[in-house]
Amino acid sequence: MSRSLWFSSTESPAFTRFEGHDSADVVIVGGGITGLAAADLLTAAGKKVIVVDMLRPGAGESGHTTAHLTSAFDRGYDTISRKISREAASLIASASESAIDWLERRSRSLGAGRFERVDGWLYTESEDDVESLRREHAASEEAGLRCSFVERAPLPFGNRGAVQYHDQGKFHPLEFLHALIADLRKNGCRLFGDSKVVKVEDGRPCFVELDNGGRIEATDVVVATNVPVINRILLQTRLYAYRTYAIALPASNDDPAGLFFDTMSPYHYIRTQETSEGRFLIVGGEDHRTGTETETAVHFENLHRYATERFGERRMTHQWSGQVIETPDGLPYAGRNPGAEHVFVATGYAGQGFTMGTTSARLIASLVTGEFHPMEKLLSPKRIELRALKRFITGNLEYPRHLLPDRLTNVNVSADSVDAIPKGEGRIVKVDGKKTAAYRDDSGALHLLSTICPHLGCDVRWNQAEASWDCPCHGSRFDPLGSVRNGPARRDLEKIEPS
Ligand code: FES
Repeated sequence: MSRSLWFSSTESPAFTRFEGHDSADVVIVGGGITGLAAADLLTAAGKKVIVVDMLRPGAGESGHTTAHLTSAFDRGYDTISRKISREAASLIASASESAIDWLERRSRSLGAGRFERVDGWLYTESEDDVESLRREHAASEEAGLRCSFVERAPLPFGNRGAVQYHDQGKFHPLEFLHALIADLRKNGCRLFGDSKVVKVEDGRPCFVELDNGGRIEATDVVVATNVPVINRILLQTRLYAYRTYAIALPASNDDPAGLFFDTMSPYHYIRTQETSEGRFLIVGGEDHRTGTETETAVHFENLHRYATERFGERRMTHQWSGQVIETPDGLPYAGRNPGAEHVFVATGYAGQGFTMGTTSARLIASLVTGEFHPMEKLLSPKRIELRALKRFITGNLEYPRHLLPDRLTNVNVSADSVDAIPKGEGRIVKVDGKKTAAYRDDSGALHLLSTICPHLGCDVRWNQAEASWDCPCHGSRFDPLGSVRNGPARRDLEKIEPS
């Protein structure tokens, strides 16, 4: 299994498991950037806050990003202006800038995270994309961003032009989050790890229930997991999960300091970062829908080749992958859970995890404290994305496309018998005539699981690079022994006793 540069160059704080019954003003489910930033804002506003995380606060997707802090937007300001509105583009632009400012302020006040201001460059290696880059520059400028069109991005390889976004940011995401956790504890916020939420109930008061029988009563609940663990119909089926890959290599003095993202499909992103282990060049990209590939290690090889062709021969020191969640219109969902009054959700940040996570946390903190936030309507999870209907339909084709063949055929069977499974690997095999997810651990012991994803019934597939079982329908992921790693599934894969 891979390990990110961030985890390898920081030490995680320890957490205890939530047990018993308790109450708070706000319970936050999920301790990534959104949950911790919301906890910070709400604790500062005088609220009694409890944070619970299925793994540990800071151990989820926030530590698997590359933390580009940029106001350049995946969906593109040109597209947002045309398909949603110019006002929407301006709101996204100013929220992104303001999120970077907040992260800088907080990083400096905590004295952690090595925050640096650098420029960001959306560049192209293809003459065919120059016109669309010029349009993106015009739309970004109209949205209020300080940016310029330049004939060449400052990279050590040929490119045909770029939009230069001024004064963006970069930092070490986990050094920042760990310092934030320490500060939250100092200010009375209670944080728990290994605490899996199985039920969230809206009301006066709300309730959060955990798998160990734990129960917390609260005035408000914020669900800030990568994919919300609630609202199967109105929320989970409107989200698309992608795997994205990143590698780190020792940086040279000549590597540029800025943030870089190209226009290829799937795209690449590049930056450098100083850590306790030295300075590294980080290269990411190679995104694909979760659960649609088994031989995923090839993406690290592709990134390594991409990097060495452009920056010279270097050894790869770290490799990791993360889960990216998209919505039909490309904007996050942040606000009241559809149908609820006191339960809030945030998800769907695409490639802007830290800026949109921070924006969502600020928006939700405003709603909880009863203050106005200009993006409440734009990011509302209740919005109806009529202009993104086509993407909603095509994005959801994975479900019917997989469900019936998965149930009725041998389409995913990848080994003839369990004997063919090497140590540390998983395969779908037929055991007693039934499709089974079989994993052989490093000691040689065999573990058998149902292939059926407990979310909505598609078959999981083995992900070789991450040693996980991934579902292609809505992106749930499970560790080799079947425990949930990423929602929307809340239950583990069913274990099968060998006969
Ligand atoms: Fe929905 Fe598996 S994630 S069926």
